[in-house]
Order: sequence, then structure tokens, then C-alpha cells
Amino acid sequence: MTAFTAGQLIDLAYLVAVALFILALKWLSSPTSARRGVLSGEVAAALAVIATLYNPEVIQYKWILIALVVGTGAGIPLGMVHMTAVPQRTALSHAFGALSAAMIGIAEYYVRAPRLTPFAMTEIALEVIIGSLTFTGSLIAAGKLQEILPQRPITYRGQNFVSLSVLGAAVVMAVFLIVHPEYVHLFPAMVLVSLVFGVLLVTPIGGADMPTVISLLNSYAGFSAALLGFVLNIKVLVVAGALDGSSGFILSVIMCKAMNRSFTNVMFGAFGQMQTPAGSAAAERTVRSATAEEAAAILTAARTLVIVPGYGMAVAQAQHKVRELFDILTRKGVDVKFGIHPVAGRMPGHMNVLLAEADIPYDKLLDMESVNPEFPQTDVALVIGANDVTNPAARKDAGSPIYGMPILDVDKARTVMVIKRSLSPGFAGIDNELYYLEKTLMLFGDAKTAVGEIVRELAGGGH
Ligand code: TAP
Repeated sequence: MTAFTAGQLIDLAYLVAVALFILALKWLSSPTSARRGVLSGEVAAALAVIATLYNPEVIQYKWILIALVVGTGAGIPLGMVHMTAVPQRTALSHAFGALSAAMIGIAEYYVRAPRLTPFAMTEIALEVIIGSLTFTGSLIAAGKLQEILPQRPITYRGQNFVSLSVLGAAVVMAVFLIVHPEYVHLFPAMVLVSLVFGVLLVTPIGGADMPTVISLLNSYAGFSAALLGFVLNIKVLVVAGALDGSSGFILSVIMCKAMNRSFTNVMFGAFGQMQTPAGSAAAERTVRSATAEEAAAILTAARTLVIVPGYGMAVAQAQHKVRELFDILTRKGVDVKFGIHPVAGRMPGHMNVLLAEADIPYDKLLDMESVNPEFPQTDVALVIGANDVTNPAARKDAGSPIYGMPILDVDKARTVMVIKRSLSPGFAGIDNELYYLEKTLMLFGDAKTAVGEIVRELAGGGH
């Protein structure tokens, strides 16, 4: 039997890494296997890196080691951020990934410049343009989410024309370089213009739309890595980049569909600007507020309860208190389930992750399609820090910005209880008629405090 050559071993490691990347995506699609998915992705990435280090073309390890130390030093604190800061953390990771792809492309150009074939130059130009615009676009997205930059969409007349002209200029320079790769002074101009385009692309988009934008930028970073794989002739990079690019794209489509928004509307619609809530109309309507004691009595008397968590639960970090509520009510014989809207919160799977963190059994989490038919038979729908995803205007009001967005039909339950601090709107900036229904009781307060008070009442009283 002949032994494997180094090249064959590297290829084998890449093949295993690719299989693990694919399995990671598959496992990540369900909360029960998500941890395995994360582990599989990590092992795949480590395997690909180690195999690459064995490549005989790597002649010294000094700079790689320095980069490893710097990267690890920056990566550890980045991994420790709070759950609600994950979107901006992810944006930063995309920025770094895209920057490295762009820089490798830039290095390849200067190493190979005059002898580049039109095909190789096309790959490099595309990769550097996408990598550069993703770098600056992701930095702006992270800045908006961290509130270092203004969250509101910054728009001006003729903006789309200016932005597209800048992108057009980058493309024209790329085409020129494909024909004349020896025009080395044009290359930095192309990079610069692409960096500027990244800023122009994301600045007009509202902070609240950033998760969708980040998912799209993730997709760009993936495609840029795949192109880099072609440039460097590394197949694992082509496959991993394509998986990253296409899954990011699919996720963006899912998010847009769940919000009933088109890509064009997210990218160019300047959505999420605070609208004046239906002020005077709202003021004239009455709301019924309840105390924790009353809420506890109603919940104890219920046979069926659906809890609908939203962004406010994440902000308040109320998931552990919600778990206590789940436990105590289940012990009292109430059938408690959770209704999860696909875009509740501010990032995909936000509610699933928080509820899993509090060890709430997965089989109690029902997605929108499964839970909606249950609301008419549900005694109480308890909305905790959710707003838009429960707004009946999405079904009824053709003039509403969220019209057509699929919602959780909590208004069909016998009683609705809503925990939030005020009557303020949520992400879409619009009033919610749910709060003024006769069957709705409002519990004004921070989600963690309010749920904690209900739990205390329940613990003190009996069934
Ligand atoms: P929202 O409609 O944003 O409403 C959240 C509500 O939480 C607010 O009305 C706020 O009311 C309340 N809140 C804030 N802090 C709170 C606290 N400490 N305690 C209690 N309540 C608190 O949230 P949602 O229903 O989850 O809907 C998500 C929205 O985000 C949708 O419009 C969706 O389209 C959008 N979006 C989602 C995603 C993803 S992927 N999930 C991505 C982009 C956009 P008060 O100020 O009165 O407390």
C-alpha cells in the first residue's frame, strides 16, 4: 500500500472539513442539534487551517504566529459580549473577514500584476471590490448597532444615483484593469472607491434594519472568500465561501419574507424612522392595566397559556424569570407553550437562543404556523416585550407599514396580557391596537421585574 503524499493528506483534510461545514449548516437549522452544528463548524475551520499550515508553500511561520496571537487576543473578548450585542459583534467579524479577503486579493495583484490573465484579474477585481465594500459597510453597520453612529437612515436627494455612480466607477476601473492589468496606479483607486461605496451603501439604512443588512453583508463576505478560493486555487475556501454566501443570502430572504418587505425596501426604503405614534387617537382610547397580583390570579385560573416573547424580553434579560414562570405554572397544571415569531427580537433565532439559555424545553416552543391555529382555543396569550409581531394592523390595515407581515394572532386568544414599559411603539414605529382591545390587560413595567413579581405572587398563593 502506498503512503499518502502531503498534498493528498491536505486534500483529504479539506474534504472532511467541507463535509463538516455542510453538516454544521444542517445541524444549525434545529435548536436540538444547534450546539453540535457550532462544534462541527469549529472543527471544520480548525481542520482547514491546520491542513493549510502543512502546505509546503508555507515557508515560515513567524508572521502566521504573530497573526494568531493578535487574532486570538482580539477574538476572545469579542466572543464574550452580551447576547443583545451579538448583531454588532457579527458585523465586526464580517468586517474583519472581508478585510482579510480584500487584503489577500490586493497582495495577489501586486505579486502577479503585469502577468495576470483576464480571468485571474476578473477574479481578483471582483473579490477586492466585494471585500472592500463589505469591510466598510460592516463597520458602519456595527457602529449603528452600537449606537456610536446615528441609527436613523441618513438620506439626501439623488442619493441612489450617487451611490450607484460610485459603484459604477469601481466596475469601470475593474474592467479597465482586466484589459490592462499593468495599470498599477489604477488599482488603489478601485479599492478606495469600493471602500467609499460600502459606506454609501449602509449609511442610508436605518439601525433597526441592520440585522437584515448584516446577513446580506455576511453573504457578500462569503462570496468574496469563495472568489479568493479561485484566486488562490484553494478548493475548501471556494466551498466554504459559497456555503457562507448562499446561506447568508437565504437568511436575508427569510428575514425579508417574515417582515413582508422586499430587498429593495430594506436597502433603499429608509425604514425604521420613528413615526409619530397615533398620538391624539391613542390618547382618546382607553387601556386596562393590571397589577401583578391580578395577573397571577388570571394565569392560575387559565388552562392554556401561550407566552409570546419579543425584543423587550431580550433587552430586559427576562428569560430566566420567564423560565421560573413556566415552571410554576406548569406545576399548577397550566398547559404553557411559547409562540415564536421568526423575526421576534433583532436577529434570526433571537428568542430560541434566549429561551434555550434558560433551559426551556424545545418541544414547548412552537413556530408561528403551528401556534396560530391554537390561539382561538387559548385562555391567555401573555405577550412579554413583543410588539410588532403581535400587531393586528398587519392583517387589517392596508395603509400600515407592516401590512401583510405575518403575525402571531394573540388577539384571537380569550384574554391577552401584555408586559411592556409604556405604550411606545416597537421597531416599526407604529401604534398597536392590541393594547386597546377590551380583552387586553396591560402590565406596565420592565419585563424582568414584572415577570418576577408575577412569579412571587404565584409562589405566595395556591391553585
Ligand atoms: P418590537 O416590535 O421591536 O417591540 C419591542 C417592545 O419591547 C417595545 O415596544 C418596547 O416597549 C418593549 N420593551 C423594550 N424594553 C423593554 C423592557 N426592558 N421590558 C419590557 N418591554 C420592553 O419587538 P418584536 O415584537 O420582537 O418585533 C421585532 C421587530 O423587529 C419586528 O418589527 C421585526 O420586523 C424587526 N426586525 C427583526 C429582525 C430579526 S431577524 N429578528 C431583524 C430586523 C428587524 P416599551 O418601550 O413600551 O417597553
